[in-house]
Amino acid sequence: MTLSSDWDNEPYVELYLVQKVLNLVVPLDSYSSKWIPQFKIKIPHKKSSDKVDYFIEDSSKNIKFLVEVKTAKTRINNATARQQLDKYLRYSGVRFGILIDPFLVEIYHFKKGQTKLKSQFDIKDITDIKSIAEFIKTFFLESIKMRSIAIHNSKGGVGKTTLAINIAYELSKRGNKVLVVDLDDQANASLTIGVNKAKEINNASTPEEHKKIYKFLDERLEVINFIKFVNKAGEIEDYRNCIVSSKSIENLFGVDVLPASHKTTENELPSGPTVLRYLDMGLIKFVEDYQYVIFDTAPGSNALTWCGFYAAQYLVIPSQMEYLSVYGIRHVIRNAEEVQKDSNGQRSNILGIVPMMVDGKNLNKTVEEFVRDSFPDIPILPAIKRATGVGKASHENIPMSQFAEKDKESPKTSKEVAESLKTLTTRLVEKIEEFECKNG
Ligand SMILES: Nc1ncnc2c1ncn2[C@@H]1O[C@H](COP(=O)(O)OP(=O)(O)OP(=O)(O)O)[C@@H](O)[C@H]1O
Ligand SMILES: [Mg+2]
Repeated sequence: MTLSSDWDNEPYVELYLVQKVLNLVVPLDSYSSKWIPQFKIKIPHKKSSDKVDYFIEDSSKNIKFLVEVKTAKTRINNATARQQLDKYLRYSGVRFGILIDPFLVEIYHFKKGQTKLKSQFDIKDITDIKSIAEFIKTFFLESIKMRSIAIHNSKGGVGKTTLAINIAYELSKRGNKVLVVDLDDQANASLTIGVNKAKEINNASTPEEHKKIYKFLDERLEVINFIKFVNKAGEIEDYRNCIVSSKSIENLFGVDVLPASHKTTENELPSGPTVLRYLDMGLIKFVEDYQYVIFDTAPGSNALTWCGFYAAQYLVIPSQMEYLSVYGIRHVIRNAEEVQKDSNGQRSNILGIVPMMVDGKNLNKTVEEFVRDSFPDIPILPAIKRATGVGKASHENIPMSQFAEKDKESPKTSKEVAESLKTLTTRLVEKIEEFECKNG
């Protein structure tokens, strides 16, 4: 392919090739997409930041990558361009990078401290923007992953459900498709999100109305049936029938739910040596449907909690900063380590401890220090303050940040808690990315 000298000019290559291709991969007009040209990357021991040509993100698909552009003259097929990209990936925390010039596209993956070429595409016809974009899209579609996080502490009432449903909401608000899996027969997550007819039960005035609601709950498929379908080698539709879609109910959380009720008990689990992995095996069928799966667990450590441990890549431990709660943490860590070992480091990796319901008392601070000393390898994540709004939000079946917007009684504390839930969610996503960067 011979090209005019225009293609020796970088702004020309960007305008007539790169931006056109990128717009097909991550369209700029989508609410979840972000393009940052001349994206700054801080290189250690260097005074000024380096700049990569583009940072591109599609938050709804967990896709993030850097793009470095060269011209027909400067080309990407040389050590300089590749070393440059290696440096950008190494210090930006972004895992994927694309090198592009008018003849060639290369996709690189930064994994376990090394930048590796994943695939290459020869541009035969520079006007065929669609084929170039298809190549890039296919690669990223393949690399899209479902991330799963269990929220657990064996102690009751520490804020597990509160965290699970609010983190799920924050993730969904950022454009992710989220599934909440309720593994607690108290079914607080299902009730609060609104899939267990809490309002109807409250409003029902006659025994007949109550009977009708309970009949519905008795007959409905839920998480326990989902697990049983693995045992019976069910069809994908069987599994899907257990999930309550966010579209099918008035659901202000915007998430799908694999609900629980009084029926979700460990006694209902099928028997067999691998039963604790059934939930994981079932959920793997949905990797393309969800970006995040959040498990709410029951207090204690029953077999359903273990199913959650074996299905979740990551674990978050909420705990009040009181001495008794800290002993609960020790127990959870021990169980998680067992699963990590058993799954080759693929499941129950602990992202951190979330101090819950803190109120600025000295005791909170002393215990936090004690936690830091006791578990030096486990990060302490952003804390969530005590606020009366939290209970009220659950009661009204709405996420905390929506409640904070309309709270007239203590708007300041409600807003503070809503803000820290957002910050916590951002921190969790960052931690997951750090983990994926290190472990591939
Ligand atoms: N930051 C907070 N401020 C005030 N109250 C809170 C806060 N977080 C949670 N709560 C309240 O504490 C109670 C227990 O919270 P939650 O149900 O989330 O805990 P849990 O660990 O899921 O409990 P269980 O072990 O019973 O499942 C609820 O009434 C909830 O509204
Ligand atoms: Mg709970």
